Amino acid sequence: MNTTETSTVHSHQNHTGADADTVAMAEMLELDAEVLGTYLSELTAWLDELTDREPRRIVDLGSGTGTGAIALARRFARADVTAVDLSPQMLHRLTKKASALGLADRVIGVQADLNDGWPTLDTCDLVWAAASLHHMADPDHVLAGAFDALRPGGLLALTEMDFFPRFLPDDIGVGSPGLEARIHAALSPGPAVDWTDHLARTGFALEARRPFTIDLPAPLPTAAARYAQVCLRKLRSHLDEQLPAEDLAALDAVLDSEGPHSVLRREDLTVRTTRTTWAARRL
Ligand SMILES: C[S@@+](CC[C@H](N)C(=O)[O-])C[C@H]1O[C@@H](n2cnc3c(N)ncnc32)[C@H](O)[C@@H]1O
Repeated sequence: MNTTETSTVHSHQNHTGADADTVAMAEMLELDAEVLGTYLSELTAWLDELTDREPRRIVDLGSGTGTGAIALARRFARADVTAVDLSPQMLHRLTKKASALGLADRVIGVQADLNDGWPTLDTCDLVWAAASLHHMADPDHVLAGAFDALRPGGLLALTEMDFFPRFLPDDIGVGSPGLEARIHAALSPGPAVDWTDHLARTGFALEARRPFTIDLPAPLPTAAARYAQVCLRKLRSHLDEQLPAEDLAALDAVLDSEGPHSVLRREDLTVRTTRTTWAARRL
């Protein structure tokens, strides 16, 4: 298959349509990494305990802007990390970030559509896939590729969000109490996928399935407020016709950067979510 190293990839300057969506997603991922840094550190420390020897080759599937790839490069100081993603824009950001952190020689982006199969990569010790497997057309096929790419004893770490983060108190001081609950009820995303059976049928031995609870109390730093704003803005883009006008107006008041109810000025914001990691081994 065709793969492209990101040193040759340039981001687009005019953001329209799908491009604008990618930019918004990239900003959300970067704020996510910043705001949830403690969780990420806890997760990579746990993987350090689970690996049977120090990883030297790591693959990050659907790396986005590099949250996992960079956290892993920092945790495992002698490892090379290959970050695979469909999107040149995501990989461009990843490459810039890796350079700024002095990790350019150890974190390499590879552009590839994992729906078309695995890029040609060396055998690895650790495969990481965070919030990406549910995007794939045939996740079991991707998992089978991960199994083949790992050496015996190698580890797969698969992480997914159990539910979209919650930020607001019940009463936000505008509109009727319970707005955020109504937003999520209206969007009704359904339960998160349980990957346990998928791992078993692709040959992996499950080591652990660990939920991580994230509960950041108020008051929160500015990055958390911006994170809340980009996340709630993403939800807002799906809510026309889904909620009464009063609720949409209240949400717009929260999203308005300048207004008195703005998410950027609130002192009652929190971040509450859980993410589950499946750690599975190729025996
Ligand atoms: C929600 S983001 C998660 C990014 C990153 N793993 C993180 O935790 O911040 C999902 C990523 O998967 C990538 N992706 C989706 N489908 C893909 C495919 N078929 N092949 C490669 N990457 C894909 C997207 O471009 C996006 O960067």
